[in-house]
Amino acid sequence: MQLIHGVAELRQALTGAPRTAFVPTMGNLHAGHIDLVRQARQAGGPVVVSIFVNPLQFGQGEDFERYPRTLDADCAQLEPAGTDIVFCPDVAEMYPEAQTFQVQPPLADELCGAFRPGHFQGVCTVVLKLFEIVRPKVAVFGKKDYQQLHLLKGMTRQFNLDIDIVEAETLRADDGLALSSRNGYLSPAERAEAPRLYRLLKACGADLCAGQRDYPAIEADAARQLAEHGWRVDYIAVRSQATLLAPGADETRLVILAAARLGNTRLIDNIELNVG
Ligand code: PAJ
Repeated sequence: MQLIHGVAELRQALTGAPRTAFVPTMGNLHAGHIDLVRQARQAGGPVVVSIFVNPLQFGQGEDFERYPRTLDADCAQLEPAGTDIVFCPDVAEMYPEAQTFQVQPPLADELCGAFRPGHFQGVCTVVLKLFEIVRPKVAVFGKKDYQQLHLLKGMTRQFNLDIDIVEAETLRADDGLALSSRNGYLSPAERAEAPRLYRLLKACGADLCAGQRDYPAIEADAARQLAEHGWRVDYIAVRSQATLLAPGADETRLVILAAARLGNTRLIDNIELNVG
């Protein structure tokens, strides 16, 4: 496994490589990330994993400075998983000049976009740059970050990027909590409380599958239950899988998305449902 910090060096290492598969990350890797690497290996070409904590996607007062940087431990997981190249640029390498051209994605005021202004602009911009640096044939992203995946699929389609986007299911702890680099911020008491988010999403899903269609009532009831247990809820929303907008009357492919804070830690999760 090669550890590469520079864009030029990476391009040289990948010269002539067929079917490069790419897994973009911000590091502090867990089993969910490693599962993306496993799926990337199925493309049959070299596997590139990037580790870059992207300042452009963090807002004022968010956790850019304290985001865990654990390169040695990350590499110790990536090598046995079959990674060929770890691309680990610093901020000056990715942004040698101010990034004044940026991708303006849609849904900027929806769901996480409403609570993290500029976040998805930063995500799409860095992923577009990484795509052009790595030039993969395949890129793997997790459904855990559902809105991010939706926007990156749209960006890939609308800019005619010749990249297959592979969607990976969310990996969870035994108690249902979605694995996340941010789970490490939780105190033991918060960690014990955290699985409630997924339990509630499943309960809302069961209501929908049983024929309930009063989405605002389902959302409000779930938000109230979280608040009663000390969460600060950003949103719980029933949406269309296809558009991430409010579902039409006959829409059967739904997703329930949630973002809520326990103490200083913001957790997100979602479940897909087919209520047809
Ligand atoms: P990061 O949060 O490190 O996540 C990297 C990838 O791992 C994303 O595709 C994310 O959806 C996936 N992932 C995270 N937790 C997962 C889980 N429990 N199961 C399955 N996949 C999971 O997402 C980012 O980094 C950044 O926004 C990035 C795309 C790298 C751009 O900076």
